[in-house]
Amino acid sequence: MSNVDKTIGLPMAMLAELTHRCPLQCPYCSNPLELEKADSELNTEQWIDVMRQARDMGILQIHFSGGEPALRKDLEDLVKAATDLNLYSNLITSGVNLDEERTQNLAERGLAHVQISIQDSDEQQSNKIGGHRNGHQLKLAAAKAVRKVGLPLTINAPVHRLNIDHLESIIDLAVELDAARLEVAHVQYYGWAYHNRAALMPKRSQLEWATKVVEKAREDLHGVLVIDYVVPDYYAKKPKACMGGWARQFLNVTPSGKVLPCHAAESITDLEFDRVTEKSLLEIWEHSEAFEKYRGVDWMPEICRNCERREIDWGGCRCQAFAITGDAANMDPACEFSEHHEYLVSLAEIDSAKEEILFDYRRMGAFDKSNVKVAGHSS
Ligand code: FES
Repeated sequence: MSNVDKTIGLPMAMLAELTHRCPLQCPYCSNPLELEKADSELNTEQWIDVMRQARDMGILQIHFSGGEPALRKDLEDLVKAATDLNLYSNLITSGVNLDEERTQNLAERGLAHVQISIQDSDEQQSNKIGGHRNGHQLKLAAAKAVRKVGLPLTINAPVHRLNIDHLESIIDLAVELDAARLEVAHVQYYGWAYHNRAALMPKRSQLEWATKVVEKAREDLHGVLVIDYVVPDYYAKKPKACMGGWARQFLNVTPSGKVLPCHAAESITDLEFDRVTEKSLLEIWEHSEAFEKYRGVDWMPEICRNCERREIDWGGCRCQAFAITGDAANMDPACEFSEHHEYLVSLAEIDSAKEEILFDYRRMGAFDKSNVKVAGHSS
């Protein structure tokens, strides 16, 4: 951390979105509505240079993500480079392009951990949600390969109205796959998920049931499976410390090299982001306008600045404030003191009552075209 401004501190990890290409088309994808095309992606040398800069800043962990990072043919080279730089590397993948041979190759190059997402425990519904004919089976095979080569496995399970009733069997599946950790993350509603929220928003009763299921499973599976649980803000009274606070602990590099303080930051359409092709990672971390704008507490509305939780939740989620109020500088509407809180709750209640089962798949260019809704399933 020698060169880093100590008043700002240092990000714990860098999320490297190697590509926005993906074999899946999940309707809650955290990638931006306008996806970056393959011909704009940083090349191998550029990514290695970014990792070297991250290491020099003192960053210890790199998370290879996407889209689907395994679609990059140079993934093995990037993992090897991360290992040579003494970075702990984690692969966040759909698993669809991860067969046993490739998993073994990645492990041999020093990959430390794998996170595989699953869309549902039910094969048919999993494939429907992910928009892939055979994705579920490929994911299960990838998870088995990960354990076979001896890598630790986390299962990521985004939950929403289309799959939440299967939470118990999703937990069973994580145990069966010998995962050490399961992340049950209620979909967060910005970007694609905000666009599709009428199909995805759970009912309050479903959320309450799911919370009990997680609490019981945590007791029953103590020592077997660690379960992380992320609840949806729409039913909360207090905001979460999104990203651990804007520009405090995290940075995200997009496939073309834009550097973001949050993976969803591009949903805030009035922010501009610097690129690693134009400025150093350190300069961006410390001085980029987008990072500085909501860092710390000075930017906060008065009520937040005077709140005893200001350095606990750091003002909550900027992307959500923008999505709901049109201004990222407003209070997070998840906070019960926000003037938009009632509106947020009413949105959740209206959306969850709609019985909507249609959604738009995440696709390159899909958001710009006339949207053709796809039938989900009712469970
Ligand atoms: Fe961007 Fe919360 S998702 S700040």
